[in-house]
Amino acid sequence: MAFPKQVRLVEMSPRDGLQNEPGPVIATDIKTGLIDRLADCGLSHIEAASFVSPKWVPQMGDAADVMAGITRKAGVRYSALTPNLKGFEGALAAKVDEVAVFGAASESFTKKNINCTIAESLERFAPVVEEARKHNIPVRGYVSTVLGCPYEGDIAPEQVAIVAKALYDMGCYEISLGDTIGVGTPLKAKRMLEAVAAHVPMERLAAHFHDTYGQALANLYAVLEEGVSVIDASVAGLGGCPYAKGASGNVATEDVLYLLNGLGIDTGVDLDKLVATGDWVCQQLNRHNGSKVGQALGSSCN
Ligand code: HMG
Ligand code: MG
Repeated sequence: MAFPKQVRLVEMSPRDGLQNEPGPVIATDIKTGLIDRLADCGLSHIEAASFVSPKWVPQMGDAADVMAGITRKAGVRYSALTPNLKGFEGALAAKVDEVAVFGAASESFTKKNINCTIAESLERFAPVVEEARKHNIPVRGYVSTVLGCPYEGDIAPEQVAIVAKALYDMGCYEISLGDTIGVGTPLKAKRMLEAVAAHVPMERLAAHFHDTYGQALANLYAVLEEGVSVIDASVAGLGGCPYAKGASGNVATEDVLYLLNGLGIDTGVDLDKLVATGDWVCQQLNRHNGSKVGQALGSSCN
């Protein structure tokens, strides 16, 4: 299989990157400053916020203020997580361009993350998708723990396929496959993808890989070979998941872009600006830059 000619990068840092940041709640203007800089890098899809319970995820409690504070750039989709109708209503009022529902292939993770069973989660998502359709808002669907669960260990590829198909059949236009705790390896990633692609068209699948075990770039190379052309990533490798102990950030956007540039795959994203953005946000958060490319090309982070 040939590599795709183009890849759409979906930038996760304002949401997945910041939701788990320890310490006090990050100032809204750092979040909006990050989002505006990311848009200026040429990223066309930025997950900007999360309309979830602030008791569960305090860092995302200012989602409405974040959406109100950004300078919207034409051609950029600003999306947000919405686990239920309450979240959707908040996202609608904040004029997000796209929403996302998020389930998992593992029962235990679903319970820890959104406090319900997989079946109940699908029941909650259905009215969100229905409402979104009425307002012409596209809905993305996430499946977490596709290559392993912090509570249940190995997850069968067929189980991932069942949840992915349910979300796709419900009306999610794209299914993002999350290696939430970054335990996958390339052949495992390929096998999982093949199982899902038997039910959901390959062009509707995205790879959302965390880099806990340093395998994310290798896993991405493997799924690019299979035809995946949408990749979720987070500048400076920011992030983790509050309900996945030990999970590190998403694969760094700078590192993915360097890989894609080397393969001659077009993204429309400017590497120098991205590295500068990674530098900037690490300085703001006084945080280590988790991007190897950011470390090699950047100037300031430790
Ligand atoms: P619950 O406690 O079962 O919900 O939580 P509830 O309906 O019983 O409501 C409890 C309280 O939450 C009520 O407030 C509701 O109003 C409020 P109270 O009466 O106690 O004051 N509430 C809300 N508030 C704001 N926005 C809402 C909302 N819904 C209810 N939308 C719930 C269920 C889903 C809300 C909760 O479990 C939650 O917010 N979980 C957050 C999960 C989360 O954000 N996880 C991280 C994102 S997923 C991820 O990172 C994985 C991903 O990156 C892919 C990968 O890597 O695998 C996507
Ligand atoms: Mg994630």
